Amino acid sequence: MKSNRNLTRGEGRRLGNAALIAFMLGSLLLLSVVRARFSPIAGAAGKPGEAIKAEEEEEQQAMKKMEALVETGDEVAAASEEEEETQTKAADGGGGGGVSSTVVVAGSTDHLRKAVCYESSRRSDTCEATGDVRVQGRSQTVHISPLEQEWKVRPYCRKHDAFAQSHVKEWALRPLSGADPATAAPHCTINSTATAFVLSTGGFTGNPFHDYTDVLIPAFITAHRFAGEVEFLVSNFKSWWTNRYLQIFQRLSKYEVVDIDNDEEVRCYRSVVVGPTFHKELGVDASRTPSGYSMVDFRAMLRGAFGLERAAAKPSGDRWDIRHRPRLLIISRRTSRAFLNERAMADMAMSLGFDVRVGEPDIVTDVSKFARLVNSADVMVGVHGAGLTNMVFLPAGAVLIQVVPYGGLEWLARGTFKEPSSDMQIHYLEYVIQLDETTLSEQYPKDDPVLKDPSSIHKQGWDALKTVYLDKQNVRPHLGRLKLTFMEALKLLPHGHTN
Ligand SMILES: *[C@@H]1O[C@H](CO)[C@@H](O)[C@H](O)[C@H]1NC(C)=O
Repeated sequence: MKSNRNLTRGEGRRLGNAALIAFMLGSLLLLSVVRARFSPIAGAAGKPGEAIKAEEEEEQQAMKKMEALVETGDEVAAASEEEEETQTKAADGGGGGGVSSTVVVAGSTDHLRKAVCYESSRRSDTCEATGDVRVQGRSQTVHISPLEQEWKVRPYCRKHDAFAQSHVKEWALRPLSGADPATAAPHCTINSTATAFVLSTGGFTGNPFHDYTDVLIPAFITAHRFAGEVEFLVSNFKSWWTNRYLQIFQRLSKYEVVDIDNDEEVRCYRSVVVGPTFHKELGVDASRTPSGYSMVDFRAMLRGAFGLERAAAKPSGDRWDIRHRPRLLIISRRTSRAFLNERAMADMAMSLGFDVRVGEPDIVTDVSKFARLVNSADVMVGVHGAGLTNMVFLPAGAVLIQVVPYGGLEWLARGTFKEPSSDMQIHYLEYVIQLDETTLSEQYPKDDPVLKDPSSIHKQGWDALKTVYLDKQNVRPHLGRLKLTFMEALKLLPHGHTN
């Protein structure tokens, strides 16, 4: 319950640390995630030697304190830089880790009857087939009839990111025919009337932002239309990860999640989808879903999955109820981008009439417990980071205040949490850290480019930017200025207008 405790977190931390250490032993993923941050593919520039050194240091650090999660803006940055290039590549065959069969260009697939793999977005390849479908998980093969040609696909929504894709198993779709013994149909050991849905939980999973934007929301986009009649065949299965989000899978599917790479069965279906479809960062494009479902439906699904009571940020009807006061949740961070005056911030918020909570989500925090805490809040404030992904649990009409660290990072704040907020029906406010509110001004001389010219650091590439502005910085917001933002948030809530 540490996440639920009001302002005292010491005990929870010790408990959390022990669990963290145990957890890390089993988790190679984190190291790969760290490496991704310093991979020349994900980062824009930087000297290779330095990158490797940084990588090693960072790995050791990660072993120590588990702050090893990919920063949420990482791929956003890479994506926007690489977008053009990726689209060009797609036109001549799908770039690194994409559909690796023959060219997938609109029009050229007309001759295929039912089965087709296509680039469902610049980040995802999706294959859909109906007919005689036989899945052999051990060899990552789907035998399909009718199917005219073989296809290869990595079912994870980061196709522009070769590093992420290198941690995603490639699946083959093969024509099934009785005549040639080499392609002879394997005998079904299990028949199912559901649609098979092959997806991977490799890549960058483990960081909540990636969990949602790369896997859970794309899985929802693909699976929601089947109303439970869909079987999740999960490649690069990690039981801790699946268990973390089990309630979501149970909401989307009537069937148990299958660890498909370790499956000895030949599972037979009448239809299959290989690879979820990506729409946008933390979002669903309703115009591209079969029945117009949207982030509103995704969030309703989450409320059902985790038993969240509040669809909307409304005050309790009973004026003596503690819920009559609007609740402000401070998302706390420890090792970087921490609020150094958290208690004073909380006191100030209380003086404005807020019921204040402090929550510190991490990899060992129980998702449904934290979801309930977030859902109980009317305002959530936190420094840019994966923890803000918890906004998915806020009730409609709530306010998200993203505190943007010093260093010209507004673009990063926009792509990750600002833009997704409106589809979630969440009001968005921003508090941009100024020079006299950042610890960077204590670490660097006054005329250092880090302080005077952030854009010159940006030009050195993502690694440089991240090291300086995301990893080395803590913040101490001005209470007077922050108060104005909190008051603005209050005005957006229905609480102020009821009496
Ligand atoms: C699955 O269905 C096929 C075709 O209807 C049938 O021949 C086969 O015996 C079934 N297998 C199992 C395990 O039920």
